[in-house]
Amino acid sequence: MRNIEDMYRIIEFDELGDERGNLVVAEGESDLVPFLINRIFYIYGSDSQVVRGQHANKKTQFILINVSGTSKVKLDNGKETRIIELNKPKMGLFIDTMLWKDMYDFSPDSVLLVLASEHYDSEEYIRDYDKYIEMLKNEEV
Ligand code: TYD
Repeated sequence: MRNIEDMYRIIEFDELGDERGNLVVAEGESDLVPFLINRIFYIYGSDSQVVRGQHANKKTQFILINVSGTSKVKLDNGKETRIIELNKPKMGLFIDTMLWKDMYDFSPDSVLLVLASEHYDSEEYIRDYDKYIEMLKNEEV
């Protein structure tokens, strides 16, 4: 089983600001975004009571960015957990494959942008926590 510290990374994007405002660039296959971006989606209108995610992915790597507002992400590798607050448009959270994630505590103005390495395939989502733990034990991935 991998060390949880090797399975996520907080990214600080450059802020290309000038008197007209700020601009942040996320370019695929770069130092900060280690994969080709095949999909993006964004989540908004989730309130502070909602828990989203609750899955691990066999193939997809993600980068999460709260481009507006704030949210929290709980990461779990079956052995350890980490809680990360996403609270800056220039902050990204890289999440590797086979890391369980919950997103919660969304502020009313939260817009959570997600960059993903793969097209959507429901088959590669593990949504049953017990099954996830079982797969880790067998080190299938
Ligand atoms: P879900 O995975 O539950 O979202 P979250 O991880 O934020 O909790 O996805 C919600 C619905 O949207 C579900 O029916 C699957 C669908 N969906 C797609 O069709 N494509 C996608 O890229 C994503 C992320 C979800």
